[in-house]
Amino acid sequence: MKLAILSRNSSLYSTRRLIEAAREQRHTVRVLDPLRCYMRIAAGDFAMHYKGKPLTGYDAVIPRIGASVTRYGSAVLRQFELMGTCTPNPSDAILKARDKLRAHQLLAAQGIHMPVTVFGDNPDDTGDLLNLLGPPPHVIKLTESSQGAGVILAEKLSASRGITEALRGLYANFLVQEFVAEAKGADLRCFVVGDRVVAAMRRQAPSGEFRSNLHRGGTAVGVSPSEAECEVAVRATKVLGLGIAGVDLIRSDRGPLVLEVNASPGLEGIESASGKDIAGEIVAFVAQGCPPRKPSAGRRRK
Ligand SMILES: Nc1ncnc2c1ncn2[C@@H]1O[C@H](COP(=O)(O)OP(=O)(O)OP(=O)(O)O)[C@@H](O)[C@H]1O
Ligand SMILES: [Mg+2]
Repeated sequence: MKLAILSRNSSLYSTRRLIEAAREQRHTVRVLDPLRCYMRIAAGDFAMHYKGKPLTGYDAVIPRIGASVTRYGSAVLRQFELMGTCTPNPSDAILKARDKLRAHQLLAAQGIHMPVTVFGDNPDDTGDLLNLLGPPPHVIKLTESSQGAGVILAEKLSASRGITEALRGLYANFLVQEFVAEAKGADLRCFVVGDRVVAAMRRQAPSGEFRSNLHRGGTAVGVSPSEAECEVAVRATKVLGLGIAGVDLIRSDRGPLVLEVNASPGLEGIESASGKDIAGEIVAFVAQGCPPRKPSAGRRRK
């Protein structure tokens, strides 16, 4: 297989591991910076160039598109799709997963459980919006949050109101959720490849903290998730149309709740916690799902 990895930096752990795995499995692999791919679009006719040369004949592309380049990166990926290149995570699925409100709506519509979530626009509605959610504590999340940086616990209704008003004043986008106290500062990252969870880790917040992000001092250990957890992780991945995803769950009294479905999950934490070759699993899955293209005129397959 002739494989492209869309990634801004080939020295990042996840990108390096995918290159290694592709070479071990005897594929031809090249890392392409999505911001250096440029495209020609005409009726039924799609082409893409990279640093002055045409990009042709790729059987598969693995997108590793960071949040800061979602828009351009997904356009590049879409161009690959239009040129007949296969991908485990299509551009539309990545866009769905990246839009937190949309992803919540799509998952809930398929009966997937999540912490109850509210969002609104007008400050005049804040009181009733919080009524819709139920009694505090509440978790307020900036929609652009990552690594736990924009996730705030409000223990009292007055705090929820105050924080909500302050964020509105800053024109920030956020949602408010029920606080799942029984998760006790832990979450579960299930790494889904195709139809199964290939590895999972439990992240635990340090004492006095409810956010389990490793950047907030959390610790990770490899675990075996329950059947129900695996099922919900695989289903959430499929609902969004992804083939590969990192699904974050919290354990609640009413079963596993999905926090987030990450379309470009990092490999470093999960490989070191589980001791498994996740990059190898990904490449094997892509190779199996993306049969080699027929050689086009003027192109010989290696
Ligand atoms: N509703 C909740 N109840 C209890 N704990 C929560 C809740 N939401 C989040 N947490 C805790 O806070 C952590 C950070 O929240 P979340 O994962 O939603 O935000 P993030 O990590 O900043 O964003 P992202 O995962 O999208 O990069 C979670 O890993 C979890 O430990
Ligand atoms: Mg998170």
